[in-house]
Amino acid sequence: MTGVNEIRSAFLDYFNKNGHEVVESGPLVPRNDPTLMFANAGMNQFKNVFTGLEKRDYSRAVTSQKCVRAGGKHNDLDNVGYTARHHTFFEMLGNFSFGDYFKELAIELAWTLVTKEFGLSKDRLLVTVYAEDDQAFDLWKKIAGLSEDRIIRIATSDNFWSMGDTGPCGPCSEIFYDHGDHIWGGPPGSPEEDGDRFIEIWNLVFMQYEQTEAERLDLPRPSIDTGMGIERIAAVMQGVHNNYDIDLFKALISASENATGVDAEGAALASHRVIADHLRSSSFLIADGVLPSNEGRGYVLRRIMRRGMRHAHLLGAADPLMHKLVPALVREMGRAYPELVRAEDLIAETLKLEETRFRKTLERGLGLLDGATADLSAGGQLDGETAFKLYDTYGFPLDLTQDALRARDISVDVDGFGAAMERQKAEARAAWSGSGGAATETVWFALKEKHGATDFLGYETETAEGVVAGLVADDAETDGLAAGQSGFVILNQTPFYGESGGQVGDTGLMIAPGVRVKVTNTQKKADGLFVHSVTVEEGELKAGLALELKVDHARRTAIRSNHSATHLVHEALREVLGTHVAQKGSLVSPERLRFDFSHQKPMDDAELATVETFANEIILQNAPVETRLMAVDDAIEAGAMALFGEKYGEEVRVVSMGTALHGDKAGKPYSLELCGGTHVRRTGDIGLVKIVSEGAVAAGVRRVEALTGSEARAYLDAQDKRMRDIAGLLKTGADEAPARIAQLVEERKRLEKELADARKKLAMGGGEAGAAPVKEVGGFKVMARTVEGINPKDLKGMADEAKAQLGSGVVVLINVAEDGKAAIVTAVTKDLTDKVSAVDLVRIGSEALGGRGGGGRPDMAQAGGPDGAKADAAVSAIEAHLGGL
Ligand code: SER
Repeated sequence: MTGVNEIRSAFLDYFNKNGHEVVESGPLVPRNDPTLMFANAGMNQFKNVFTGLEKRDYSRAVTSQKCVRAGGKHNDLDNVGYTARHHTFFEMLGNFSFGDYFKELAIELAWTLVTKEFGLSKDRLLVTVYAEDDQAFDLWKKIAGLSEDRIIRIATSDNFWSMGDTGPCGPCSEIFYDHGDHIWGGPPGSPEEDGDRFIEIWNLVFMQYEQTEAERLDLPRPSIDTGMGIERIAAVMQGVHNNYDIDLFKALISASENATGVDAEGAALASHRVIADHLRSSSFLIADGVLPSNEGRGYVLRRIMRRGMRHAHLLGAADPLMHKLVPALVREMGRAYPELVRAEDLIAETLKLEETRFRKTLERGLGLLDGATADLSAGGQLDGETAFKLYDTYGFPLDLTQDALRARDISVDVDGFGAAMERQKAEARAAWSGSGGAATETVWFALKEKHGATDFLGYETETAEGVVAGLVADDAETDGLAAGQSGFVILNQTPFYGESGGQVGDTGLMIAPGVRVKVTNTQKKADGLFVHSVTVEEGELKAGLALELKVDHARRTAIRSNHSATHLVHEALREVLGTHVAQKGSLVSPERLRFDFSHQKPMDDAELATVETFANEIILQNAPVETRLMAVDDAIEAGAMALFGEKYGEEVRVVSMGTALHGDKAGKPYSLELCGGTHVRRTGDIGLVKIVSEGAVAAGVRRVEALTGSEARAYLDAQDKRMRDIAGLLKTGADEAPARIAQLVEERKRLEKELADARKKLAMGGGEAGAAPVKEVGGFKVMARTVEGINPKDLKGMADEAKAQLGSGVVVLINVAEDGKAAIVTAVTKDLTDKVSAVDLVRIGSEALGGRGGGGRPDMAQAGGPDGAKADAAVSAIEAHLGGL
């Protein structure tokens, strides 16, 4: 029972048997603590349980927690590889009591485990207690039977544990293991304590207090938090002194020996150890959603990766190395941490990409470094300017430069490095203020410079804690926002998505005791600053305040669906219409998605239906939506769709979903797009996509709008209801409705025609009304008639008929429409046109009708007039004219 995996299981089983709930490790990026960069102790995930803020349905827990100590209060990065026990990543085994047992049982459980279950000899063990903690002293004596000289009182902060500047804390008691007198060193508290002989293996913290910024408060109930680094206890149980000699590290180091062909001995030993350690932290961080970047957590990851990669280079590795070691890591640790298995591809790709890119500048940077330090000897110092140039131009993090000079005992002028960095920022500031940006934009730029880019947690979580870094109201920074006030909030980290790439910003809540803030929008400013638009509903917002952040979950869920569906519709459009389809614009809101694309003509119904079918096929695959980080060129080469004219960083997120079913692409990934948005986990989460409109936005640009999930269903429900209403009105089933409507339309057409014919007949004197009256005026036969409801198009035909009836004469037809307007047609038989012109007559008539003009030929003319009530006056005027000829 001495392998790391066995020790972990034994620890968890032992406490489980003693009434402890086995709880999964919390993520490396803490969600419940804005002050922590990375999880650094087992108690992190229980912070709010200790303080009483959060309730769980157990009061005893046991975990094996992933920890990273590389940045923040606990930072071990610089020492890794050169000491026996420093790691950037390690696992902490721990048992916890939340107001359940306290010192006595904690000591008893710990002592039984190490001496009975783990079988360590009592003679090798000694413990420390906090100087004033007589109770712990007495309990160790009673329970462990240790002599007083083996219970050492320590007055310093070594025996008072706190997670950070604030949070739960308390006195602690540590168990030490004596590795034997062949190693130099003395017990804790002795002048030789810094030696390597006595090693702390377990820390029992008697959690009693909560440190706030202002004071130290008593916890509601005394609690227990213990932490045992698995690497240390494994070293003890495997009879080795150096953590890097335990089975787990041996396996990783042997993988890097195989991959490089360089044995882990002499100068190469430290490099192999650095690589093994950094492989673990990098891989676990990537699995927990951190990706390399130049800001915040992403930069810590980049520093760790590049430090490891320089050592790979030192070992003479000709190609990128670290990604080749991922399978060995997954073999060793994947059973205990399945997230490693799930993220294996992403980890390997991310490592390979980073190493490929870094290698391009690494060699030249090292050349510069060698040149700049050629004249320096041990104890010398590299100037800050050169260190900055290495950072800025060659991508050398400061600690990598320090690490590279360590073997030669050369240091770096860190202040000079800082000054050079400051100067560059000042230049950028000057360039910015000269660029004439708006007042608020200048505020964002200043805030970005002061606080750095906001760490975005929203790919992984919709709730987290964050600290207020800055507040803005009326275009200027402010100290506070009071209840009722609106303004903008900058946080150190946020789960709120800032509007970009067509996806709208998140809304939600920010809460602290006595403080409630509504988030109405989130936007991205100044290249990575997340700006939350807020209204304070209760209490006051101040810089430094820690807030619980809650994205509106239902809204974000709908947004995710619409964003993922946009990708599917995009690809389906390309499949159906052709690859000339390129994105011209997009809007992803919780209600709907809108997608503009290049295409010359309207889509027909069949095309729309096929696009919808293809997109829904991928939804039904319920395929996982995968996101990876790629070099932009590689991504585009792999076929990922990018926006033309869009500026992308060198590395981009690439979102893929589904497997193509048709054509040449069958079997390959369906949709592959460069995208920074948030997406569903599996395509099935979208539920359904329904296109609801298609139209033109500009020449050669079409727009489709679509709905997903419950919005799509509500739309179809409404359509269905409408259909049933129609069927109800038609008194038929829905299936027969279309035929019934077609029949009604046909019938209506027939009836309209019949009605028009009847009216014409009536107008021409047919039917019961008798023949149209014919008058003699000025020697002309005149047939004049005012009619209603005749289609104006028919008037000329009717006038022709009338002429035929007359043989020789003049015809005047005035039709008065429903709206009261009149149309007039005058006609003159050919034999009379040299005496009277239809055009003259129509003008006279039109004038009487309140109109003007009109036109035609001498034998037939037409005009209109607004005043149909004057029809008789028009006829009279024409007759008067004829009478006067
Ligand atoms: N929190 C303590 C530590 O990290 C015990 O778990 O050492």
